[in-house]
Amino acid sequence: MESKLTREEWNEYFSSHWYFPGVKQSEHLAMFPEELPRRLIKMFSFAGETVFDPFLGSGTTSLAASRLNRNSIGYEINPDYIPVIKEKLGFPQSDLFNAVEFCEDFPDTGALSFDVLPYRYIDPHRLDKKTDIKKQTYGSKIDQNTASREEFYSVKEVLSPNLLVLSGGLRIRLIGVKIVPGTKEEAISYLREKCRKRRVFLRFDTEQYDPDGNRLCYLYLDNKTFVNLHLIRSGFVEVDEESEYKHKKKFVGARKNAERVDIEQRDKPVSTQL
Ligand SMILES: C[S@@+](CC[C@H](N)C(=O)[O-])C[C@H]1O[C@@H](n2cnc3c(N)ncnc32)[C@H](O)[C@@H]1O
Repeated sequence: MESKLTREEWNEYFSSHWYFPGVKQSEHLAMFPEELPRRLIKMFSFAGETVFDPFLGSGTTSLAASRLNRNSIGYEINPDYIPVIKEKLGFPQSDLFNAVEFCEDFPDTGALSFDVLPYRYIDPHRLDKKTDIKKQTYGSKIDQNTASREEFYSVKEVLSPNLLVLSGGLRIRLIGVKIVPGTKEEAISYLREKCRKRRVFLRFDTEQYDPDGNRLCYLYLDNKTFVNLHLIRSGFVEVDEESEYKHKKKFVGARKNAERVDIEQRDKPVSTQL
């Protein structure tokens, strides 16, 4: 039971994309967020088994393993990271492990024998450089027949005109949308109204995350209404013209059009406006 994935976890973990924030690179140059090894450990091991990370770095894999009641072995070639790993794992005061062994002079025991493993995970997908991974669907889904290929969310909170929280806690930043302080509240209300009680889905560009770890994306309603574009057309926000992204030209055009309509409305004689 301890090792069991819930149906939601199974569908999320075995889907083609994972969404969670990155981690601040403070103690080590290339740390991954704990959520990454956590998911893989839950997917491919049982409680009580041993997880091996040959490139331990700051020790994230061992931390995730211990929190999931797995043992772990990690190799790290750079002794500068020893204090970082010790700190992360709470060594030596740790009560995370039943037994902690920290081997600074690791004996050369030769290669690990994979033949004795009870099972092996073999990735069936061949890595082909010509393949556009955004167009691929990997993994499996429970209830394959009823499940749609599109991954739908709902909007839980609109924090600002370009920052939203979706169901499941995913924080997204709308690509191309620049906040105008004077019309910020109108833009937020516009988004809330637009997305209220709607299912939404996402599309992505080459840049994946903003510096705060929010997923950069294009947001669509279930009827394919392009929310970023509609928000720009509303005139409550500006277009980000400094960054490069796929729909920039379209957004700039839409914003200019919104301005033109505004001017036309303003200049119309009062009698014809009625
Ligand atoms: C990308 S980092 C891993 C970071 C880790 N996933 C984390 O979250 O902190 C790779 C680590 O592998 C270590 N490394 C490189 N070659 C190694 C080797 N032959 N044996 C053991 N560790 C090695 C590097 O020193 C580096 O700390």
